[in-house]
Amino acid sequence: MKVLKKLLIVVGVVSLTSCNQQPNVAPQEPVDSSAIVIENIMTRVSVRQFTSEPIAKTDLQVILKAGLQAPSAMNAQDWQVRIVTNQEMLNTLSGFMLKTEMGKGMAERLGGKNAFANAPAVAFVAAETGDKATAYNREDTALLSENILLTAHALGLGATYQAAPARMINDSAEAKDYLKAAFGFPDNAELINIIIMGHPAENPAVKDRDQSKGRIIE
Ligand SMILES: Cc1cc2nc3c(=O)[nH]c(=O)nc-3n(C[C@H](O)[C@H](O)[C@H](O)COP(=O)(O)O)c2cc1C
Repeated sequence: MKVLKKLLIVVGVVSLTSCNQQPNVAPQEPVDSSAIVIENIMTRVSVRQFTSEPIAKTDLQVILKAGLQAPSAMNAQDWQVRIVTNQEMLNTLSGFMLKTEMGKGMAERLGGKNAFANAPAVAFVAAETGDKATAYNREDTALLSENILLTAHALGLGATYQAAPARMINDSAEAKDYLKAAFGFPDNAELINIIIMGHPAENPAVKDRDQSKGRIIE
């Protein structure tokens, strides 16, 4: 199922970018892609432990493109996202974060890992502020983030949305300065969340949801 899903995603992204080339492949059985999409949503789970295997660049490109395909209020696209795989940069930023009040308590629990669980890739998601941003810039980043989570899962990767590390970075002048300088965020970018990503080294169960919180009214 995972291989099929991955194939569908890569084929989908490639066909979005090159419409006029017909691949020379034999006709295949029709695939119920809606079932695959729904299964992907229902089986996504936060993964916080990763192997050291890097994520393929082609997968990162698909993840980034899918993130940027999210809807945004008035199509303002008032976000900035950086997917960082450079472990030296991530370790430097982590060092600043672990010096904050929140970070000091966290250092012990990390067991020698950096503030990003030594994830092979970390997405930094920021909302643009100022004149060109809408009042819904945070909502827009949330939708972008969900696209990243679901795409990572579809590609067989694990990922977790995390707000606390963004708060740690925003609380530290040196972490904030480093983030902007090293990752090229503009001055009007406000970091909202990060997403840690990698090949899963754990297999958490999907958590139940309270179905009474949603209703269909006819
Ligand atoms: C707004 C928001 C903030 C979150 N912040 C963190 C965080 O700082 N650290 C973390 O490990 N997980 C964080 N999570 C992940 C949630 O803990 C997780 O999504 C939730 O427990 C449901 O589990 P599931 O994603 O496996 O379904 C956050 C999720 C959301 C939506």
